[in-house]
Amino acid sequence: MKTVPAYAPRAEAALSRVVERFLQQHKKEASSFRAQFDGIRKLLVMLSWSVAKRVEAGESAETVPWEALTALRNSVLQGSASNREKHAQWFDQHDALLIELATGIANDLAAPILSELPPRDSQSREPLHSNQDPDVSMNIVTFYNHKGGSGKTTLAYHTCLLAEELGIRTVAVSVDTQGDMIKWLTRGAAVRRDRIYEVGKHVTAVYSPDEFPARLLTGNAKLVLVDMDSRDDNPKRLPYSHLWLMPIHNRFSMENSLNVLEAMNVPKDGTGRFWVHNRVGYGGQRHKHAVLHAIQQKLVETWPVSIIDAEAVERAIMKYEPAWKHAMIKDSQIERDLRAFALSVFKTLRVMPKKKRDLPTKEDEE
Ligand SMILES: Nc1ncnc2c1ncn2[C@@H]1O[C@H](COP(=O)(O)OP(=O)(O)OP(=O)(O)O)[C@@H](O)[C@H]1O
Ligand SMILES: [Mg+2]
Repeated sequence: MKTVPAYAPRAEAALSRVVERFLQQHKKEASSFRAQFDGIRKLLVMLSWSVAKRVEAGESAETVPWEALTALRNSVLQGSASNREKHAQWFDQHDALLIELATGIANDLAAPILSELPPRDSQSREPLHSNQDPDVSMNIVTFYNHKGGSGKTTLAYHTCLLAEELGIRTVAVSVDTQGDMIKWLTRGAAVRRDRIYEVGKHVTAVYSPDEFPARLLTGNAKLVLVDMDSRDDNPKRLPYSHLWLMPIHNRFSMENSLNVLEAMNVPKDGTGRFWVHNRVGYGGQRHKHAVLHAIQQKLVETWPVSIIDAEAVERAIMKYEPAWKHAMIKDSQIERDLRAFALSVFKTLRVMPKKKRDLPTKEDEE
């Protein structure tokens, strides 16, 4: 017995939607088209599978329809020596129609499956856990996404560097077994649990892999920047944050973040939960299309500043240095984006030094 591939139900559901939309758009000839489609139902199903297989392998939505149709044509012609000419002619005559359907299916599959996503967040919030009740004057920002590798540590780390530069008293907390942020901030020091690292004049860092270290946050910091472990979806261990920033860069980082939305608590005076579009320009058409589509749908608010995809980030991290040190040009787009991003966080939380004399002076730095 021939096994049905896992993508078959998704492919066929997309085919039905695309056919229905097509018939809606061609209302006058709908009945004749419907009869035509019924006549070649088996072929259309094969076409939808062929499209789905390619889309799910991450191929570009621009090339998938052509490749899927070519593959279908070849397999049909190979199978029928007697009717080869007749079938070839048939494909040629229907080429435009089949391409239109294949394109529709590819786009449908590349868009996030909106109906399967949870509804937009409800306003109900759990009460503050008493063991997570830090000094109220602090603003807690947590970088979180259930999906790994979306840029949490990268964004948290660069925000720390700018907090130091602007003289904003900050505690950087790594509630992440990997402790990457601590390694980057200390330029490779061995991370030790609960130790407080002096990163600069204004920023300290704490590695606390098991829990949000409320008990250690009694200093006079204005800002707490938390880098969470992606694998953590236990609400009790998640901090109660004034601002949640969820970096997204592809379809999966976006979808996974939706699964844990409810676990992210925001106090009444908090700002909320936002997607941060990181690595803009990254990935194939499929990811780009899905991310932009989801952003437009406003399933989650998107942070107003996004960050470009830049090779310099990868190069810099290898040396525990900021991305702008490794950008090819001075005043690069990645530097502008990361600075604008950090500034937008500081301004939103009103932690910018108010007066000029609050800013660190040259003498301070020496
Ligand atoms: N804007 C960007 N441009 C290019 N590469 C980026 C960018 N942001 C992050 N990256 C790269 O993506 C990878 C993952 O980034 P990062 O470690 O910050 O993600 P993470 O969410 O903290 O991952 P984890 O879940 O493993 O903690 C890294 O290799 C990093 O260099
Ligand atoms: Mg990380």
